[in-house]
Amino acid sequence: MALDTRTDRRPSFAGLMWRSTVGKKTVMAVSGLIMLLYLVVHMIGNLKIFFGAETFDRYAHWLRVVGEPFMHEEWTLWLVRAVLVAAVVAHAASAYQLSRRDIRARPGRYVHRKARTSYATRTMRWGGIILGLFIVWHVLDLTTGTVHPGGFSPGHPYQNVVDTFSTWYGNVIYVVAMLALGLHVRHGFWSAAQTLGAGSRTRDRFLKSTANALALVLTVGFVSVPVAVMTGVVS
Ligand code: HEM
Repeated sequence: MALDTRTDRRPSFAGLMWRSTVGKKTVMAVSGLIMLLYLVVHMIGNLKIFFGAETFDRYAHWLRVVGEPFMHEEWTLWLVRAVLVAAVVAHAASAYQLSRRDIRARPGRYVHRKARTSYATRTMRWGGIILGLFIVWHVLDLTTGTVHPGGFSPGHPYQNVVDTFSTWYGNVIYVVAMLALGLHVRHGFWSAAQTLGAGSRTRDRFLKSTANALALVLTVGFVSVPVAVMTGVVS
């Protein structure tokens, strides 16, 4: 096995995996599936808004005390946050490195760069950038309240959500991000399944339908909240 010229040591299995294209794709697939799981749970949680302010705010409070008394207050929440941050960083870093590798590997790489990149690849890259920016905005809006319109009220997410979707730009930002999310999940789930070896001639149709269903359910579920505020169903 070749020595690592920077350290004069044999590279570890994890190091070799991380440097290989298949290793980076595996990191993308696994981190993507972790985020997908979070999104399904988050979307279902958001639908509690249709049961009224008391139910929604109680649910948000439960998120802070879940696991007690074994876990101290907010420990579970911070654990979930740590896993999510690690997943986002791993996903973005491997996506960036794979796209650099892809550009370097192309012959005549400065000619017609756009024409050589497929529609799916471009959608995934732009979708990923939009979602990354959205997550920052979303946390500043509904978790810290930094960019929240009006007075942010910690512990009262129902009112905060209503305030956000009472502004035109709040609706535009969230609806555009949710559409990007749908496209990203649709192709991402399919790619992850192929990377992890789940694809086969018999299963591909099922995997494609699952990807479409997941993307649709997530987009419709998330978008239903701003639509409900805009139409006065939630106020
Ligand atoms: C219409 C769509 C959405 C609504 C109404 C919504 C609502 C909320 C609310 C109310 C919170 C604060 C919860 C609390 O502090 O108790 C929150 C947190 C969060 N949301 Fe969303 N969300 C939406 C979509 C998304 C999407 C698409 C993502 C990911 C791409 C996402 C990721 C997060 C994250 C990472 C947090 C921070 C959790 C934390 O650390 O406290 N959300 N969301």
